[in-house]
Amino acid sequence: MSKWADLQRLHDVNRGRHILDLFDESRAVDFSVTADGMLFDYSKTSIDSATRAALVRLAEVSGVAEKRAAMFSGEKINDTEGRAVLHVALRAGEEAVIRVDGQDVLPEVRRIRAACAAFARDVRSGAFQGQGGRITDVVNIGIGGSDLGPAMATLALAPYHDGPRCHFVSNVDGAHIHDVLQGLDPTTTLVIVASKTFTTIETMTNADTAKRWMGAKVADPAAQFAAVSTARDKTSAYGIDPARVFGFEDWVGGRYSMWGPIGLALMIAIGPERFDEFLAGGRAMDQHFLTAPFAANMPVMLALVGIWHNQICGHATRAVLPYDQRLARLPAYLQQLEMESNGKRVAIDGSDLETHSGPVVWGEPGTNGQHAFYQLIHQGTRVVPCEFLVARRGHEPDLAHQHLLLVSNCLAQAEALLRGRSLEEARAIMARRGATGAELERQARHRVFPGNRPSTVLAYDQLTPFTLGQIIALYEHRVFVEGVILGINSYDQWGVELGKELALALQPVLEGKAGTEGKDGSTAALVAFLR
Ligand code: F6P
Repeated sequence: MSKWADLQRLHDVNRGRHILDLFDESRAVDFSVTADGMLFDYSKTSIDSATRAALVRLAEVSGVAEKRAAMFSGEKINDTEGRAVLHVALRAGEEAVIRVDGQDVLPEVRRIRAACAAFARDVRSGAFQGQGGRITDVVNIGIGGSDLGPAMATLALAPYHDGPRCHFVSNVDGAHIHDVLQGLDPTTTLVIVASKTFTTIETMTNADTAKRWMGAKVADPAAQFAAVSTARDKTSAYGIDPARVFGFEDWVGGRYSMWGPIGLALMIAIGPERFDEFLAGGRAMDQHFLTAPFAANMPVMLALVGIWHNQICGHATRAVLPYDQRLARLPAYLQQLEMESNGKRVAIDGSDLETHSGPVVWGEPGTNGQHAFYQLIHQGTRVVPCEFLVARRGHEPDLAHQHLLLVSNCLAQAEALLRGRSLEEARAIMARRGATGAELERQARHRVFPGNRPSTVLAYDQLTPFTLGQIIALYEHRVFVEGVILGINSYDQWGVELGKELALALQPVLEGKAGTEGKDGSTAALVAFLR
């Protein structure tokens, strides 16, 4: 019998049941998980005790515990690339030992972290200077995992910035680097070229542009460049002093890399001590993930709620809705983390997946989204499971009244999704407004909210470095658990290759150096239009 059968049966049996009817006096507590001051409430979903038990069994029979042990102990679970998966090593505690090929990797992790911290301190204190004086601005040039993590976190932790201003350039569109560099002083700017492979065309093209921009004003542009990469040979060939090259190993996936030197820009912005607090938050979530029983394990339950909604209920997307403006880039960060990891149609053994791959992830901060796409979430024909995030308090004590408004909006949206508004209630509203007869009926139908729409809330005290570390590690482990259950290798990304190859081949075609033979009619016509 398929491992999904129990859950499919439970879904069919309970179809049509209203989530509100599941509530008794203890459901909110029983269907919540806590971890180090953070609360994950999934009581506003259709999961009941029997469903949860079946979901937990699914995690057990899928080998989540065994695979978790394998990951944390440095086994090569990324088996299409023959690599360990050890982003957890980047935030491991002082006493930890993790071996890859018999070698403890942590001494080198600590050495590189110390080197990054020393450089960050030098930049912040002015001990490291640009050719025109103290560094005022840092430009991180990277893309995907070498951009989204540090860019998201630098915005998230803005209240802790006390270093130079940090900017992020990712897109190969020249408009991006043009707009970022405009207004910066090349003599006091530090450029960090962040690329795991140091071959990514967007990053290397932007790095060349930055070098030319700097070279127009300073004698030695390379002296104001640093690099973060696994490819030390390539960084040397690029002319960057090895003293300012911060390496990492191939067992850190790009989208999991912000805990190490890829986080250098963030470390410069907030300082190494705050960065350590971020690591400590991730480490606390690792401990929780390793030790809590599945039903009380936040990453496991977050993953199981995701599996329930996507693979069992058939909801193809999920919305991530932070009621925290500084988490504005979290949805984009999670798009890479989740969709590059679990957007795969083939299982680890090369067979077709038994179910759908991971969902489409999207979102925007509240309350902005309310005035944009929530219409569809409330009244559209498709159900979109919503994942709200909200802090108990903001960082602006003088604006506590605005934070209260923010929280009330967040809770109200989750409540509205749950309870909806019946036709009877809508009719009463229209009657109070003086409508009658057929017009009352017509108008009332537009004001019905079906309700019974699932949402979860991740609540925390305040968006501190520690909390952000918890949140990011939570989502990383969620991806891991979902990947194990789906039978996917979450740590490769072959699906990004074809487009890269075709783009390379199209460059000479667009330059007019090669023809469009062999191209489909649409591509050939677009080349003709755009050339
Ligand atoms: O194209 C996808 C990807 O390989 C991501 O996985 C990665 O985060 C990004 O490109 C950037 O790669 P790199 O850090 O090697 O420049």
